[in-house]
Amino acid sequence: MVKILPRHIAIIMDGNGRWSKNQSKPRHLGHEAGLETLKNTIEAVAKRGIPHLTVFAFGVENWLRPDEEVNYLMGLFLRALNRDIERLHENEIRLRFIGNRAGLQADLIESMEEAERLTEQNHKMTLIVAFNYSGRWDLVQACQSLAEKVAENKLASSDINETLISQHLSTAAFPDPDLFIRTSGEQRLSNFLLWQLSYAELYFPEKYWPEFDEEELEKALDFYATRERRFGQISEQIGGILSSEPRVQASEGTE
Ligand code: FPP
Repeated sequence: MVKILPRHIAIIMDGNGRWSKNQSKPRHLGHEAGLETLKNTIEAVAKRGIPHLTVFAFGVENWLRPDEEVNYLMGLFLRALNRDIERLHENEIRLRFIGNRAGLQADLIESMEEAERLTEQNHKMTLIVAFNYSGRWDLVQACQSLAEKVAENKLASSDINETLISQHLSTAAFPDPDLFIRTSGEQRLSNFLLWQLSYAELYFPEKYWPEFDEEELEKALDFYATRERRFGQISEQIGGILSSEPRVQASEGTE
């Protein structure tokens, strides 16, 4: 039987710190291991023909961590970008970043922009990295740009609807995630894609992120395939069949 796959998976890669603690290793080795898991997951998702993967790499609240850890994560991100971008490009993966670039160091912004330029024409999969991101920030910046259009008489406030809001979020070009995964047993959204996850199926494996492998991904996909996605309707209205195609969805994206 053909398994229904999500078009977009969003992941909170949680548990790097607890994994390293369990192994009596310093925290930064948990993040290094997490990066390896991320690379394997990107390839496993792309291999299955799933067109969008979004990962939460650094949240606005993560600035509150000790300086040493924040600096380590910034350095790891920059190193990973410069070192691994060619492999992503060879695998025909398009890289896009969402989040507030203001306040990030200049060399990081430059590498992010260069990576987006280099991979722009790739079509196998789009990897969306949420960096210095928060769901509330995204909604605020969308409100600000809508308000500016109203102030400039380019838009009437009565024309603001769900579609228009979706179109002003940093994720405007992508469909909403169908499947949300947060590892490590924590069951929170932690200010991730607040608007965009409205209809996502939520999956919380117990494994820490460095332990998440292809077998775990397959379990998440099995879970997704058994869900009946009703989008507010009743089972009979959608034919009682398992469906990944919503009859109603806030954002279809522009791709
Ligand atoms: C959550 O684990 C993980 C993060 C805050 C960082 C995610 C980063 C990676 C997976 C590393 C590689 C990715 C990039 C793009 C640099 P945690 O530290 O909150 O773990 P804990 O809850 O067990 O302490």
